[in-house]
Amino acid sequence: MKKTIIRGTGRYLPERVVKNQEMSQWMDTSDEWIEQRTGIQERRWIDEDSKVGASDLGLIASRIALERAGWQPEDLDLIIFATLSPDINFPGSGCLLQSKLGLKSTPALDIRQQCTGFLYGLQIADAYIKSGHANRILFVGGEVHSTGLERANRGRDVTVIFGDGAGAICLEGVETDEDVGLIATSLHAQGDYAESLMLEAPASRLSPRLTHEMIDDGRVWPKMDGRNIFKLAITRLPEITQTVLSKAGLTINDIDMVFPHQANLRINQSYQKAMGIADDKIFNNIQKYGNTTAGSIPIALDEAIEKNLLPEKSTVLFVGLGAGLTWGAMIYRFL
Ligand code: UT7
Repeated sequence: MKKTIIRGTGRYLPERVVKNQEMSQWMDTSDEWIEQRTGIQERRWIDEDSKVGASDLGLIASRIALERAGWQPEDLDLIIFATLSPDINFPGSGCLLQSKLGLKSTPALDIRQQCTGFLYGLQIADAYIKSGHANRILFVGGEVHSTGLERANRGRDVTVIFGDGAGAICLEGVETDEDVGLIATSLHAQGDYAESLMLEAPASRLSPRLTHEMIDDGRVWPKMDGRNIFKLAITRLPEITQTVLSKAGLTINDIDMVFPHQANLRINQSYQKAMGIADDKIFNNIQKYGNTTAGSIPIALDEAIEKNLLPEKSTVLFVGLGAGLTWGAMIYRFL
C-alpha cells in the first residue's frame, strides 16, 4: 500500500530580528510582559520596504526542500500552499509560487486553515497520494504577518505574538508494507468560534468591502479573544492527542518527538504537563520566531531534522489549534 513519506524539508525566516524591546516604541508593552505571557523573546519580520510576500518566503524554503529531496520543480504533481496572509487577495500564493518555481501547468491550491494549515495540508496531500491523483507533492506553510499587525495599544495583544516565516515539505507516495508515513490523523473545526480570532475587512459580506470608517475602527487588523483561545487550546490539545494515539494503538511514550503549533509557550508547557511529555521529547522554537501560523510546525520540523533529533524510524506527533476554530493532530513515522 502507498504511504506518504517526507523526502525533504526546508525553512526560511527573514533576516530582520525584532526583539521584544522594539515593540515598546509602538505600544505600551515590555520585554518582561511578552516573555512571561508568551515565551517569545524575538521574532523575524521582513524589511518594511522589501515588498516580499508569503510566496517569496515559501519559494526559498521550497528550493531547500526540493534540493534535499533531490527533486526538480518539474517533478511535482501538486503544490499545496497554506497561509492566512496571501501575497494578494487572489489568486492564491500557491499559484504565485508555482510561477516563481518556473512551472507552467502544475496544479496549485491554497488552503485557509490558519494555525492548522500544516495539519490539514498533510492530510490533503495524503489523500491525493492514496487516491492516485498525485505522487510528488510540495506543501508550503508561510506567512507575512508583519505588514498586517496594528502597531498601537489597541492591537498589542496580537501584534507581539506574530512572526514571519515559511516551511516547506516534499511528500512522496511510496509502496511499502512497513508501518511508516502518516499513521493516524484527526482534524476538527468549530465555526462558532470564528470571531474569537479573525481579521474582518475587506469583506465580501460588506458593501463597500472597505471604507475609511472601517480603517479608523480597526476592522482591518486581526482581533483575538486571547483568553478564550488559550482555554480552548489547553483542553483540546491533550484531548485530540489522546484521540490520535488511540487510533494508532500507541501511547505518548511511543512518540519520539512532539511538535506542537507555536502559539504560546505557556500553552505548550501546560500541554506537556497534561500529557506527561519529557523535556527532550517536545520541540519549541517560539522563543526565536513567535507565532508563524501555517509555517510553525514545518519550520520546527526542519530545525529538528537539521539538529539530527529525528533518527530513522522516529515517530513524531504534530498537534495544533487556532483560528476557525480549527484543531487537529497526526502521527507520522519516518522511513
Ligand atoms: O495561533 C493562534 C492561536 N492563538 C493563541 O493560541 C493565543 C492564545 N492566547 C494567548 O496567547 C494569550 O491570551 C495572550 C498572550 C494573547 C495574552 O495573554 P494573557 O495572559 O491571556 O493576557 P490577557 O489578554 O488576559 O491580558 C492581561 C492584561 C490586560 O490588561 P488588564 O486588563 O489586566 O489591565 C491586557 O490589556 O495584559 C494586557 N496586555 C498587554 N500588556 C502589555 C495585553 N497585551 C499586552 C501587551 N503588553 N502586549
